[in-house]
Amino acid sequence: MDNTITINQKTCKDCLLCIEVCPNKILAKSSSNEIAVRSDRAHTCFRCGQCMAICSTRSITVNGLSYEHDFFSLPDDTSTENAFYKLIFTRRAIRNFKDKPVPKELLEKIVQAISFAPPSFPPLKIKIIVVENTELIRKALPNMIKLYDGLIKAVKNPIIRFFIKKEVGKRKYKTMQEHLIPLLKSRLPELKNGTEDTLTRNAPAMILFIADKNEEDISQNISIAATYGMLAAHSLGLGGSIMDIIPPAIERDKELRRLFCIPENHEVVTSLTIGYPKYKYLRGIKRNLKSVEWL
Ligand SMILES: Cc1cc2nc3c(=O)[nH]c(=O)nc-3n(C[C@H](O)[C@H](O)[C@H](O)COP(=O)(O)O)c2cc1C
Ligand code: SF4
Ligand code: SF4
Repeated sequence: MDNTITINQKTCKDCLLCIEVCPNKILAKSSSNEIAVRSDRAHTCFRCGQCMAICSTRSITVNGLSYEHDFFSLPDDTSTENAFYKLIFTRRAIRNFKDKPVPKELLEKIVQAISFAPPSFPPLKIKIIVVENTELIRKALPNMIKLYDGLIKAVKNPIIRFFIKKEVGKRKYKTMQEHLIPLLKSRLPELKNGTEDTLTRNAPAMILFIADKNEEDISQNISIAATYGMLAAHSLGLGGSIMDIIPPAIERDKELRRLFCIPENHEVVTSLTIGYPKYKYLRGIKRNLKSVEWL
């Protein structure tokens, strides 16, 4: 995939928003003080379109995405468009938060929305842990970095790779190989020197979705429930994202399991970060399904 990123330096207003929102921190200021693409990270661009969705001057273009075809103007507040569509059009994965705590009443509303998620077989078997204490998330970060640093070192060994593949299965291993490992490799230097938090994203609050390992598989139920939570957060003026990078670190670290009070024989299936979005996106992003058949 050719993800060449071009920046029109003549129209760029130097607002730095593209640098801020890029999930993979691919953009940076060059030595000549211009917005530039980091050559060591360019390969991690997955065309999420966030940089283009926020640029007020259309100065940044990712190859394969066009302002005309892949983005749309967001409905204004006076639009009579159906509230649900307005909600999904304006939702983005938020990775930059205001330094402002999330009020408990809003977290409670999110919890309530999660409880409305459909269970495959009632009753709901999902358990959640609401981390409203930001300090716990900050405290967890060094252990997460240590764990992922260890993983990246370990996967250099083909025997360990073989056992990881056996443990997680072929399909999960493919995701690890194609996404997780390259992203972690490019992120670890800054994570370790403390200049970037690309794991917890400095989120003020977080919900952990946990499941009893001895009970039936409820991972699909959890995905739906986390989506309800994510949309509820957005509807309340909050933002965040489902974060699959957080659970494996908690799962494998005894201290983190203790810190987040994960009960014995339970696994953290996914997580949802929550906070007030720092930036506002100017356009929505259109994406195509891989295929749509009508029968
Ligand atoms: C199941 C799932 C897991 C995700 N895990 C992460 C994650 O670990 N870290 C992260 O920064 N974003 C994560 N995201 C956010 C996606 O990267 C994001 O949704 C995608 O880039 C599209 O951007 P958008 O949500 O703004 O449309 C996850 C999203 C989903 C649905
Ligand atoms: S968002 Fe657009 S205007 Fe702002 S720095 Fe990036 S390219 Fe320039
Ligand atoms: S498309 Fe997404 S990943 Fe690629 S440079 Fe833009 S914000 Fe970063």
